[in-house]
Amino acid sequence: MRDTRILRFVSLIIILFVVANSNLVYFRIISISVIILRIYFSLLLMELQFSSKTWEKIPASDSIKRTQNPIRNWIESHISMVRPNPSKQLLVFTVGDPVVYPGFEPSSRCLQTFSESIDTVDQQTESDSNLQARQYLANLYSSEHSMLTEDDVFLQSGCSGALLAANLALADAGDTVLVPKPGFPLMVAVCEERGINIETYNLNPEKNWEIDLEDLEEKLKRSPKFLLVNNPSNPLGAVWIADHITEVLKLANKFKVPILADEVYEKMVFPNEIVNSFGKLSKGQPVIVASGYAKMGLAPGWRLGWVVCYGNPKLVAPLKRALGKVSKFTSCPTSLVQTKLPELFSEALAELQPRMEDIEKRVSLLTEELRDCPGIKVMSSKGAMYAVLRLDFKQFRDITSSSQFALKLLEEEHINTLPGSLFGDDSFIRIVSLADAEYYKDFGMRIKEFARRHIHVAEYHI
Ligand SMILES: Cc1ncc(COP(=O)(O)O)c(C=O)c1O
Repeated sequence: MRDTRILRFVSLIIILFVVANSNLVYFRIISISVIILRIYFSLLLMELQFSSKTWEKIPASDSIKRTQNPIRNWIESHISMVRPNPSKQLLVFTVGDPVVYPGFEPSSRCLQTFSESIDTVDQQTESDSNLQARQYLANLYSSEHSMLTEDDVFLQSGCSGALLAANLALADAGDTVLVPKPGFPLMVAVCEERGINIETYNLNPEKNWEIDLEDLEEKLKRSPKFLLVNNPSNPLGAVWIADHITEVLKLANKFKVPILADEVYEKMVFPNEIVNSFGKLSKGQPVIVASGYAKMGLAPGWRLGWVVCYGNPKLVAPLKRALGKVSKFTSCPTSLVQTKLPELFSEALAELQPRMEDIEKRVSLLTEELRDCPGIKVMSSKGAMYAVLRLDFKQFRDITSSSQFALKLLEEEHINTLPGSLFGDDSFIRIVSLADAEYYKDFGMRIKEFARRHIHVAEYHI
């Protein structure tokens, strides 16, 4: 195509040259007419070519084809293929959005504070995000080992944004990242998209879902780019004691692997439980804490999250520069929430404790309801807003996986839950623990009937 264009152009120049040097009038007239006709037909041809071009489907990038958010995908595609029993009322326990459940909306004081910022800070915040908000968080997250400043804090769109930013700042395609099993699957999805390898380490269900330290040590020897931890945990509701966190810090320090600690449920613990932060317990080794307002403020839709960087300043300087660059990609999260963060934070915390008491009561009620349910055991939890129901497949006659369990439960009992397989562990289903007492009583009754229908006859004793 390009060659013919060059040929045509050269032939035009030659013709023009001959015409310009010719004495014959007729020859000149014919040649000029030929040139005009050629130009005319070329233009016509070009127009025809463009008008005959049709739209085709816009291809998705190869990297995005490699991945998806497993929880959203389950909710949007898998369960839509099931025909639930229409005679039963729907019970939903899937998405961890407190606002969906009565009694877990943002407090009226927070709503008032938020509404006050409308019309006063509609412009973007400065490119490093709101200074007072970062100073406030730096102060809050400082510890006896780490005096933080606003330069150690980066605001993001939710904790998801914080996890994505940390991933972009820390890892490249071909690197390996170490994640918990079971665990919240967002990081896996991000790594798949970016061509980053995933390695998992085990959590021990018999020991409050603590990290299996031997397994972790083996995996750390392979020099992953970072170690992701999640405490308090989704889906498990585990809250680790300080000694355990210190052990994990020691191991990461031994192998010089930075820790990315997802602590978005840091304030959501049951009464008398204490949360220990990886960041605050670090004594100079690099720890990046990802957290946010979504859960503690019971307002996931307000989309304010943050990354806090701990560690010897010389060691973390390049990482902080990288996080600063990433933060500038999106002009920061909503200015309305950034600007009011100090007030919102303290107002939300003032009202969170009674709600955590409520969640604990609901988990106890659920545990009581399912005490005599064969094949299913409610695991104990200490925080967050989920309950894990472990499944003993040996007792089931015709159910062999968590997704099969969740789909059958939806089909037969019209109950929506999430299978553990979405979190990398097939041995349980996860339900949200924010529904009211009536809901759990109904749930308990229906799931027992369900279990009765599916267990081996020899096990049938309820
Ligand atoms: C463990 C964990 N990390 C991060 C997130 C994302 O939080 P955000 O809504 O602030 O993006 C969630 C949300 O459910 C979560 O459970």
